[in-house]
Amino acid sequence: MRDDTLTWMNELTAEMEERRKKVAAGGGPARQKKQRDAGKLTARERLDHLLDEGSFVELGAFVEHAGGDLMRGVEAPGEGVVTGYGTVQGRTVFVFSQDFTVLGGSLGKMHGRKIANVMDLAARTGAPIIGLNDSAGARIQEGVDALSGYGDVFFRNARYSGVVPQISAILGPCAGGAVYSPAMTDFVVMARGTSYMFITGPEVIRSVTKEEVTFEQLGGADVHGRVSGVAHLEADGDVEVLRQVRELLAYLPQSAKEQPPRRETDDPAARETPELLSIVHPDQRRPYPMHDVIRTLVDDRRFLEIQPDFAKNIIVGFAHLGGQPVGVVANNPRHLAGTLNIDASDKAARFIRTCDAFNVPVVTLVDVTGFLPGVAQEHAGIIRHGAKMLYAYAEATVPKITLITRKSYGGAYLAMNSKDMGADVVLAWPTAAVAVMGAEGAANIIYRREIERSPDPAATRAQKIEEYKKRFDNPYVAAAKGYIDDVVDPKHTRLALIRHLRMLEGKEQSLPFRKHGNIPL
Ligand code: HXC
Repeated sequence: MRDDTLTWMNELTAEMEERRKKVAAGGGPARQKKQRDAGKLTARERLDHLLDEGSFVELGAFVEHAGGDLMRGVEAPGEGVVTGYGTVQGRTVFVFSQDFTVLGGSLGKMHGRKIANVMDLAARTGAPIIGLNDSAGARIQEGVDALSGYGDVFFRNARYSGVVPQISAILGPCAGGAVYSPAMTDFVVMARGTSYMFITGPEVIRSVTKEEVTFEQLGGADVHGRVSGVAHLEADGDVEVLRQVRELLAYLPQSAKEQPPRRETDDPAARETPELLSIVHPDQRRPYPMHDVIRTLVDDRRFLEIQPDFAKNIIVGFAHLGGQPVGVVANNPRHLAGTLNIDASDKAARFIRTCDAFNVPVVTLVDVTGFLPGVAQEHAGIIRHGAKMLYAYAEATVPKITLITRKSYGGAYLAMNSKDMGADVVLAWPTAAVAVMGAEGAANIIYRREIERSPDPAATRAQKIEEYKKRFDNPYVAAAKGYIDDVVDPKHTRLALIRHLRMLEGKEQSLPFRKHGNIPL
């Protein structure tokens, strides 16, 4: 190569490197220090923790803001967001990481376009999209262009929902528009103490409603993990949040066209589980730890619970059975006696639909007396919300296995995926009881006259309850009618579940033609 060509090329390369350095510096050392002092990593450090080492490939580094009167002379390195792709456990993922050191990570038109670009690539190539959110919301200086930028992102959140997995890590104060994109994704993981989500902040609330509230009380991780149900997981600090995102990905396929990856295990499929005999109590009213039942059954006792602190009366989460990823839905007798209420119905229905969208079989463990009675629940719409569970199970075409451990009564019997609601296989332990209601309630209704007329009503009631129990408090009445496929010994349950899952591997089921279903919302 000629010397002058070489010099020219060296100059161009140096300029490119100079520009790249400026972008990588974000909002500069002072703002980065503020970020670290607040206990947060920078946008690029977060990507280092999320992705396999050295795998990140940046796209759109040289994008600049879209201008406008109020943005004249304002510099926004990288447009306040780092975008590109990399790998997690060797599998491609697309990412964006908002840079709070640049105009508070606020979203302008071109910031939104950068995110939309990686979302498009994720959908086109069939790979998950992961957003690391740390943003003050719409960039006020850009006005309607900023709102349009959000529109670009929201539109794609909806369009690509169920196409590729979408996961949001919330790692800073996400305000205004910054919360609605995560809310449309499949999973929201929040950092405790350093992240907040709210549509309007404490100051606006104070001036409008006169309520005094701190950031933490309004939209901290604990609020969204326990009260609102917006967050699926919470963790201490950025590093732990990003580890949880990596873990979540291990249960999900690259796209709806693929199967989730298997995780091979040394845990034998035929491992007996005699400990279950001592976990489940023979007294129907005595609660027992359903989490222990789940962990005892699944591979290596590993269970990634989703929304562990919200609507604790139902348990949902991911595990493996014989190497096959599964979604587990289980009543929790330790909270509200495992009844189904509004929040539990929302939580379970959403989880079932997530599993179905991404080809994860659903295993349902049933111990439920019914929907939670009460005026508050009725008035708040338990009918509308409970219907979501019925709908979600019936609509799901993934393999579905139901195991009735103890009680399965009334409407909740159907809402926990009975055979008629589309379960492929229904199993029951010998302790199971399937009926319209519990023995006490049933005996009081159907033997009311006899009890009233009796010289000793209390003794007759007790006798009738016992008779009813003998007759119906077992799985064999339902099994005789084909509603239960098999009654299994608790200690052989793991093998039974794994065998049925293997049998269902080739399951194919299509739905009748429609534009889309109309789940009650
Ligand atoms: C542009 C913004 C900004 C914004 C903050 N900044 N918010 N720039 N647009 N929305 C800038 C600040 O000027 C500052 O710049 C830097 O970001 C950091 O902000 P600080 O206030 O210093 O940080 P902190 O004290 O940590 O407070 C963070 C915050 C607060 C709680 C997020 O900044 C805040 O309340 N911002 C406004 C949030 C908001 O109301 N957003 C809603 C927009 S409306 P310098 O140069 O000093 O570093 C919206 C509607 C969309 O989003 C609707 C779609 C459905």
